Amino acid sequence: MIYAEILAGGRGSRMGNTDMPKQFLLIGSRPIIIHTLERFLLNDRINKIIVVTPREWIQHTIDLIKKYIPLDKQEYIEVCKGGSDRNESIMSGIRHIQNNFGINDDDIIITHDAVRPFITHRIINDNIDMAIDYGATDTVIPAFDTIVESIDNNFINSIPIRNHMYQGQTPQTFKIKKIVELYNSLNGEEKVLLTDAAKIFAIKGEMVKLVDGERFNIKITTPYDLKLANALLQGDKNDK
Ligand code: CTP
Repeated sequence: MIYAEILAGGRGSRMGNTDMPKQFLLIGSRPIIIHTLERFLLNDRINKIIVVTPREWIQHTIDLIKKYIPLDKQEYIEVCKGGSDRNESIMSGIRHIQNNFGINDDDIIITHDAVRPFITHRIINDNIDMAIDYGATDTVIPAFDTIVESIDNNFINSIPIRNHMYQGQTPQTFKIKKIVELYNSLNGEEKVLLTDAAKIFAIKGEMVKLVDGERFNIKITTPYDLKLANALLQGDKNDK
């Protein structure tokens, strides 16, 4: 089975003072999370989509799905509660899969930020193909700016070679059994430090295949990003 997990378990604190988490804000005339879901519903290789949200937003999420998603597509989507951090949210969705469907050796999960609504069909398909071949993927774009490392946030420690640097996006796609095995092998301290799911594979010496992202596959984090997302959406419409 191929599962997609839409990560909508965050609070969106960097978006500032909004009355709902950023994944529920509108771009154009529809909530961000609905734009994202629609992109995944277009891919007929995906058997089920799990959406994780904060517990108190589960009913709101279900209501949005009923309002915006055609009835025949709603059966592909299940909503469950997220976790205290992003990786815990991923694992919460996986527990939902385990409890409701069981997990087989070849099952794959495509994990994607709800707040990256400009994901493309090509990126999703590349993630599936590469996860089948390599077991784990991370979607990235080459770093355009020089990356500067400063551990004390005051002086430079290093300036890595730019050609070796990438910016991480999502999806990140994994063989489910493998991510469960690796996550369960972490101690409490490692779990707090390893905020990125692909990093769990990398530090355990597992191969993670890079998938080409897109510059426009932005993560909506701040009010500026929301403006940018509206402009990108308008651009998409003008192109059609
Ligand atoms: N996310 C999640 N569960 C969490 C934290 C984050 O599913 N416990 C999701 C967010 O909903 C978002 C994605 O992970 O779709 C990327 O995280 P980020 O942009 O950091 O979202 P927030 O944690 O909501 O934002 P902030 O850090 O500004 O509070």
